[in-house]
Amino acid sequence: MQTRRSFLKNSLISGSTVLGGGSLGFLASQASATPNLVLRPSVTEFSLHKNQPTKNIFSYNQMGPPPVLRAKQGEPFHVRLENKLPEATTIHWHGLRLPNAMDGVPFLTQPYVYEDETFDYVFTPPDAGTFWYHPHCNTLEQMSYGLTGLLIVDEKDTPDFDADISLNLRDWRLGSDGQFINLYKARKSARAGTFGTIKTANWEENPTYEVPSGGNIRLRAAVTDVTRIFKLMTKGAKATVIALDGYPVPKHFDLNHQNVGPGQRIDLAIRMPDEEGQEVALINSSSSKSWTVATLKAKGSSLKRDIRDLKPLPENPVPIPDLENAEYIPFEFTATAESAPKNGFCGTIGFSFWAINRKSWLGVSPDPMEPLAELKLGKSYIFSFRNRTPHTHPIHLHGLSFTLLKSNKRKIDPFITDTALVLPDERMDVAFVADNPGDWLLHCHIIEHQKTGMSSFIRIS
Ligand code: C2O
Ligand code: CU
Repeated sequence: MQTRRSFLKNSLISGSTVLGGGSLGFLASQASATPNLVLRPSVTEFSLHKNQPTKNIFSYNQMGPPPVLRAKQGEPFHVRLENKLPEATTIHWHGLRLPNAMDGVPFLTQPYVYEDETFDYVFTPPDAGTFWYHPHCNTLEQMSYGLTGLLIVDEKDTPDFDADISLNLRDWRLGSDGQFINLYKARKSARAGTFGTIKTANWEENPTYEVPSGGNIRLRAAVTDVTRIFKLMTKGAKATVIALDGYPVPKHFDLNHQNVGPGQRIDLAIRMPDEEGQEVALINSSSSKSWTVATLKAKGSSLKRDIRDLKPLPENPVPIPDLENAEYIPFEFTATAESAPKNGFCGTIGFSFWAINRKSWLGVSPDPMEPLAELKLGKSYIFSFRNRTPHTHPIHLHGLSFTLLKSNKRKIDPFITDTALVLPDERMDVAFVADNPGDWLLHCHIIEHQKTGMSSFIRIS
């Protein structure tokens, strides 16, 4: 096991380094002396259920849930991480196309940030939309204990909504005394994953938000849970899907039991009922018993909006892959024989159940490792995700966004995303331009799967 000192010596960057951007439009951002904000992860207490304070909650905010961060498309964003946890952490900005050194993956892109150390994240988001942030170190514990927050990148011209509500959807594994129980069961890690016992939106059970009657509401939801795949619908008004995973959909469509897996996001436009007090419920129907995730309640006299007046969201500047000349690379997602872990740090669960292209990597390790694929900067690629398991896997690629091309199981719309939900036995092809240099993780976002081998990385140079 590499010591902290030898790692720091070998690390490529330090927190104050001025960033070199990618060659194709990832603007170098000058680290300003003062950050826009400081995130201080620490251990705290919070009542998630029945006014029972849960101990050993982790948050980026002493008083409650991690803040919803707001950045502006095309403008530099500077966050300082000041670690107040008694263990190392980092921050990964899920879905953002940013310079590799800002991606927050220990060993691969930056050193660990130990207790009382700081690290400055500085980048200029090229895309607007709903994104999120979380650690990439001891991930199952740190995320399960609370470290998952939303990052909203506002469009250059903010669209005309009467309210903009965001929901951080996640569960907690608490016992009847309101305290954490074991975060996983190995038997379940080898299947769909271990589900939480308490279900929350913004750390509350079915919170209600008042919004203008007859108004056009933007409702954003991010599934930051480590396991659960949601299936979302509304009751009380229809909802229109306007963006998925941060990216405006090419054509609006009605929300109808939409799958949203760990790591994924959805933006809805909802025209509230005209009468004060009327409610619109967001419902999850992915389990045998459906439940209300959150409720919007009409307030005041009707604004009498027409949902058809909403202009489509502006497209994000994602380069279009050259499919004719794209190189084709298959990735097989499989189960693997269980074996003992090689080393037990950074939160390895202690099993390997899963593999990509027959390699089972536990996600973080300082030993020399090979990328699963080496890509040429500027070239187009088609990745073929082949799920050879009876479970659904949300497959996430860091630092790049890809377009869904086709599936052997269903009709697919050309959505742009960073996290694709790949169904059992599905083969899904996706395409992108390798325009962002660096080592980028490719992993399942069911964290138990990631931590037991369904993790790898690719290199673009
Ligand atoms: Cu949401 Cu590797 O991350
Ligand atoms: Cu998985």
